[in-house]
Amino acid sequence: MDSIIVKGGAPLQGVIPIAGAKNACLTLMPATLLSEEPLTLTNAPRLSDIATMTELLQSLGAEVSSLQDGRVLAMSTHQKINHVADYDIVRKMRASNLVLGPLLAREGQAVVSMPGGCAIGARPMDLHIHGLEALGATIELKDGYLHAKAVGGLKGAKIHLRVASVGATENILMAATLAKGTTVISNAAREPEIGDLAACLRAMGAQIEGEATGTITIQGVDRLHGATHSVIADRIELGTFMLAPAIAGGEVELLGGRIALVQAFCEKLDAAGISVEETDKGLKVARKNGRVSAVDVRTEVFPGFPTDLQAQMMALLCTAEGTSVLEETIFENRFMHAPELMRMGAEIDVQGGVATVTGVDRLKGAPVMATDLRASVSLILAGLAAEGETLVSRVYHLDRGYERIEEKLRAVGASIERVHS
Ligand code: UD1
Repeated sequence: MDSIIVKGGAPLQGVIPIAGAKNACLTLMPATLLSEEPLTLTNAPRLSDIATMTELLQSLGAEVSSLQDGRVLAMSTHQKINHVADYDIVRKMRASNLVLGPLLAREGQAVVSMPGGCAIGARPMDLHIHGLEALGATIELKDGYLHAKAVGGLKGAKIHLRVASVGATENILMAATLAKGTTVISNAAREPEIGDLAACLRAMGAQIEGEATGTITIQGVDRLHGATHSVIADRIELGTFMLAPAIAGGEVELLGGRIALVQAFCEKLDAAGISVEETDKGLKVARKNGRVSAVDVRTEVFPGFPTDLQAQMMALLCTAEGTSVLEETIFENRFMHAPELMRMGAEIDVQGGVATVTGVDRLKGAPVMATDLRASVSLILAGLAAEGETLVSRVYHLDRGYERIEEKLRAVGASIERVHS
């Protein structure tokens, strides 16, 4: 299993290109199941989660070709497809559940393994089920699989989501594009990845309005056609790399970054004393003077502070002057990075969903490991600021969501290398 060694201390200088968004690509790929014509995605990120979704779509009978060194995904499901998403693939990645809505809309039936819990929380599927049932599906749980059927096809409905779930909004939105009549999803998620999915579905001929407002109206159509769509920039990769110069010092330009993707996060960086400037190519981030200041952070659905940047922000606040309070409201168990950061000398007290971080002068390198993607990258960031060497194991989590992370950080002057073992 690979590990990454980071030697802290060097200020960073240079440019980092931001890849296409993992979470957008993972919902755009299953959208191919909605049409018999080809769907081509450009600006795709090269990540193991994308390989897992490729494997899942191929197991359903889709043709998926990775072109231009993985930057372009050409997909086609012109032939009869299989409607069973197997546990062996689904268990690797929760986002596999995003084939449920498209399969149901296309085939009138879907059998999709329940994804199960994951390290950050239980993550149920009730909202996905409730929404698809409102569209006329019957869904039963048997042998760990959701068996969904829509005899006579899906019909438009009014659906209110108890929680503005990203995945449930995506599954219902995709299914509703081919339902008969009008669907209105209220309290829908407003994450930029939903906007990207709506844009792609519109390019395929779907009729969708209001995705930025939290109330999405979909007028069902008989069929969708092929399209070519460019995946939006990854706001979580962007935020993560914005924290690299914030924690290590220096100035880095993130190519393709826009403030609108990370507004709430930028406000917290500003309060901490980090400068962020929008340029014509992206965002320039700098920490020039001394330590950052403590700030309080509460994770919220978009446009609030993203839960997917909470662990990385905690790494920064471990080195801030003063005490910061981080409140996690989206996932019940998302502070597993705290004990690892404490092994590096951080002072953190976790009580339920609240972590109190008292900044220290300097973190110290240590061997660490993490149980999820964003927790792992927070340890890399901490390593950039730490005295000595930090060895991060279980790097496969990082490869799920960060394309060539060590190359990108090395290019701006970080001392970081991957060791194969
Ligand atoms: C997506 C992102 C993930 C991000 C999360 C929140 C992808 C592939 N993943 O995950 O990186 O951390 O949004 O921004 O896009 N919930 C229910 N019932 C459901 C569904 C969700 O109670 O049926 C709850 C979850 O347990 C969680 C909250 O709703 O507490 C938000 O989860 P959700 O937005 O669905 O996250 P994902 O779509 O799984």
